[in-house]
Amino acid sequence: MTVVALVPAAGLGTRLGLNVPKAFVTLLDRSLLERAVDGLFASGVVDDVVVMVPPDMIDRARELVPRARVVVGGAERTDSVRAGLAAAGDAELVLVHDAARPLTPAPMIERVVAALRGGASAVIPVLPVADTVKRVDADGIVEATVDRADLRAVQTPQGFTAGALRAAYAAAPGELATDDAGLVERAGGTVVTVPGDPLAMKITTAFDLRIAQVLAEETA
Ligand code: C5P
Repeated sequence: MTVVALVPAAGLGTRLGLNVPKAFVTLLDRSLLERAVDGLFASGVVDDVVVMVPPDMIDRARELVPRARVVVGGAERTDSVRAGLAAAGDAELVLVHDAARPLTPAPMIERVVAALRGGASAVIPVLPVADTVKRVDADGIVEATVDRADLRAVQTPQGFTAGALRAAYAAAPGELATDDAGLVERAGGTVVTVPGDPLAMKITTAFDLRIAQVLAEETA
């Protein structure tokens, strides 16, 4: 079964505070985008990669990741994934992997694909939640302590049969979601979990980038 990975890389990265779209920020020797795409191909379980970028970054992306197909993303992450899905062709299995997770290790990508090949239609890598988590109201007053034993932090790549992901996006034409499995859940699908990896951390803030720099130096 052919595996295509969609890489949303069209975010502006406002929270990172640099004047270049986040996926094009450099981590040591390579951009986040190059690292994410190279990591997918290096896993050996991905046949094709489609990258979604801001309209003015198409040429730059084609230079950086010549093995990937590059398409224009959208205003929201969900719009970008939708654009990637339209370019995914007839792949049977689809991974969606944030460019903002440049250090994702190959075995984690393999675990996601193995679960799909084992019959799952939607797979997410997860980690336990270390902090105590509380729900608060609009004034910051605590309403409840959520039992963290039941919680998981969710990473990417998330994996889907193409049918399940296409159906979930078709069922929610205008809806936004912070992850793709959320749309599958809303469509009534079953989402299974595999162990994630702390190295698959998402770079959102300048602090995250500093941590990733240290980790990248260690593995360089
Ligand atoms: O902003 P955030 O870190 O949640 O974005 C996660 C991923 O989704 C990033 O790789 C970002 O480039 C991508 N994205 C996108 N299109 C958007 C917004 C975010 O492809 N409109």
